[in-house]
Amino acid sequence: MNAPLHVALGSRSYDIVIGDGLLAQAGSLVAPLLRSRRVIIVSDDMVAELYLETLQASLEGAGLRHESIVLPHGEQTKRFAVLEELLDRLLAFTPDRKVTLIALGGGVIGDITGFAASILLRGVDFIQIPTTLLAQVDSSVGGKTGINARQGKNLIGSFYQPRLVIADIATLLTLPRRELLAGYAEVVKYGVIRDPQFFGWLEQEAESAFAGDKKALSHIVRESCKAKAAIVASDERESGIRAVLNFGHTLGHALEAETGFSDALLHGEAVAIGMVLAMRLSMMRGLCREQDCERLEAHLEKVGLRTSPRAIGKFDTARLIEHCTHDKKASDGGLTFILAEGIGKAIIAQDIQRKELEKLLDKALL
Ligand code: NAD
Ligand code: GLY
Repeated sequence: MNAPLHVALGSRSYDIVIGDGLLAQAGSLVAPLLRSRRVIIVSDDMVAELYLETLQASLEGAGLRHESIVLPHGEQTKRFAVLEELLDRLLAFTPDRKVTLIALGGGVIGDITGFAASILLRGVDFIQIPTTLLAQVDSSVGGKTGINARQGKNLIGSFYQPRLVIADIATLLTLPRRELLAGYAEVVKYGVIRDPQFFGWLEQEAESAFAGDKKALSHIVRESCKAKAAIVASDERESGIRAVLNFGHTLGHALEAETGFSDALLHGEAVAIGMVLAMRLSMMRGLCREQDCERLEAHLEKVGLRTSPRAIGKFDTARLIEHCTHDKKASDGGLTFILAEGIGKAIIAQDIQRKELEKLLDKALL
C-alpha cells in the first residue's frame, strides 16, 4: 500500500487507499474513522460471493460488529423500489446515527449505498470499497450518489462524500474482461482531459494491466484517482470545471439511451465512442488535429474497445441529438459539450449548435 491520496474538501475531506490485498486489512483501515464500532455492509450477490467473507473476517479481526445486506447485481438495482427495500432492511437492524455503511461492489452498489447513507436517519457515514475498475477510478470518488428514475439515469441523488475509499487492486483480477475494458474508457478519459503523459504511458503499458499486472493496474487506479480528486476538490458540486469529467458522456449517454441502457452497450463502452465523437467535433472546430483523433481511436481499438456507433448498430442522427438536448448538461445558448484541445486539455463549450452535431453524426453514422 502506497501513501493514501487525499480528497481535500475541508470537513468532508477523505483518503483514498490503493493497494493489493487491502480487503483483508479493511477492518484496521476503517476502525479509526468509525463513530461507533458498528458497520453495515451493502453488496451485490456476485461480489458478495467473492469478497464478503474476507471483508467480514477483517472487520471481526478489528473487533467491529457487522451486519450485511446483499442486493441483486446489475443496473436494475439502482431504482426506487430497491432503495426502499434497502432502507427497510437497514432500519430493521435498528441502527443509530453513529452507524457506518460500507459499500462493497461496483458503481451500482456505491451509488445506491451512498444515497441511502445520505438519507438514512438524516445522514450516516459511509465508506466505499469499490471492486470494479470503473468504481475504483471514477464512481467511488467525488460523492455523486443516487439512483435512476423512469425519466432517465442518475436523476435522483445527492452529493454525499464517503469517509474513506479503499481500492483493493486484487479484486480487479476477477472482473470479466468486458467490465475491465468498460472501466478503462474512463481511465483513458483522464489522459485526454488533463494528462498527456499519462495517455502516453497508457499507450505503452495498458496491455500489461489487461494481462493482470497489479503494478500496472495500481498505477492506472492511482493516476486516475489523483486526477479525479484534484478536479473534485476544486469543484465539488460541478458548478464549473468538474464538468470536464463528462468528456465523451453526452453522446455516450445518447447511445446508451438508444440501446435501452442494456448489456448491448455498457456505460464505459458508450463513453469510448462518445470520446471519439467529441474529439472529432473538437477537430471540426479547429481545436485539435486529425492525428489526435486517430491516436485516440487507435489506442481504444488496440485494447478492444469499439470506437464507432456503426460497430454497435443503426442509429438515427435526429434521435441522438434529441437525447443530447434532454441531457441534464444542456444549457440555453446551445448544447454543452466537453471538447479537447488535443490530447491532454479539455475545455467546456456551451455553444454547440444542432447543425454541427448533424454534420458530425451524419458522417459517423454513414
Ligand atoms: P456494476 O456495479 O453493475 O458492476 C458490474 C458487474 O460486475 C456487476 O455484475 C457486479 O456484480 C460485477 N462485479 C463487481 N465487482 C466484481 C469483481 N471484483 N469481480 C467480478 N465481478 C464483479 O457496474 P460498474 O460499471 O461498476 O458501475 C456502473 C454504475 O456506476 C452505473 O450505475 C453508473 O451510473 C455509475 N457511475 C457513477 C458515477 C459516480 O460518480 N457516482 C460515475 C460513473 C458511473
Ligand atoms: N463521473 C463524473 C463525476 O463524478 O463528476
